[in-house]
Amino acid sequence: MDLQLTGKVVIITGGSDGLGAATALACAKEGANVVIAARGLDKLTKTAASIGGQALAVQTDVTNPVHLENLVAQTVTRFGRIDAIINNAGRAAAKPFESISDLEWQEDLDMKFYAAIRLSRLAVPHMKAVGGGSIVHVLAIGGKTPAANSMPSTVSRAAGMALMKAMSKDLGKDNIRVNGVLIGLVESDQWVRRAAQNNQSVESLYARLPLENGIPLGRVGRAEEFGDFIAFLISARAAYISGCAINFDGGMSAAV
Ligand SMILES: NC(=O)c1ccc[n+]([C@@H]2O[C@H](COP(=O)([O-])OP(=O)(O)OC[C@H]3O[C@@H](n4cnc5c(N)ncnc54)[C@H](OP(=O)(O)O)[C@@H]3O)[C@@H](O)[C@H]2O)c1
Repeated sequence: MDLQLTGKVVIITGGSDGLGAATALACAKEGANVVIAARGLDKLTKTAASIGGQALAVQTDVTNPVHLENLVAQTVTRFGRIDAIINNAGRAAAKPFESISDLEWQEDLDMKFYAAIRLSRLAVPHMKAVGGGSIVHVLAIGGKTPAANSMPSTVSRAAGMALMKAMSKDLGKDNIRVNGVLIGLVESDQWVRRAAQNNQSVESLYARLPLENGIPLGRVGRAEEFGDFIAFLISARAAYISGCAINFDGGMSAAV
């Protein structure tokens, strides 16, 4: 299946590691020019080099609106257009309700919610200029089914889902599709770091997680599977899919 991504320009936040890096690679393999954004310059540069010539690395903290303006400006200067953005940068943040400070709420919303609003708002005029586009908000299944001790992340993700649905209604007339992908448990650098912190191998963590979390498919997802799915979702092959909150979780979530 030809995804028809050749020559398209895709911005991926959190593109230096984990799921974002896998998405950048999948889109680049399909012929897209990819722009990856993250804070750490070393990792960002290495990831861009591993993807190859059509990857641009732009050091960006998505919580800083000026950085987002620079990200869009550099993308347009280099490639002249924007066809898709993947709002992916994020990290786990889950604590008991009473222990979460205002600052922690604000930081989580800044990274997972306001960053998606701001980058999307900057990119939309460029998508309109090329006749349409695709926006993906990377979310988590906890946004549909918040558990105990799961805030602030689950609440930020639920807000992201509402944002996605409302944006899809506003932007459909401009042929801009907006979707959310709700992750369950997928192999990525965040799990590698967590295993190291707990002095265990990442392989044993990946073996334990499906049992502890009741994943029907019996395994965690692979970053490459996620990247391939996002490449499909932003492509012309998914041209009639908009306003969807799609679980990417091996069947783990109880919610459809
Ligand atoms: N993997 C899972 O099982 C899972 C489950 C649920 C949700 N998710 C969500 O999926 C997304 C990707 O997760 P992942 O597992 O791939 O995480 P990861 O391996 O930790 O990668 C996170 C990426 O985001 C970047 N990042 C972090 N803070 C940033 C900021 N303020 N500005 C710009 N970039 C930033 C990181 O680079 P720097 O640190 O250098 O900036 C890195 O490139 C996240 O939103 C995460 O919450 C993942």
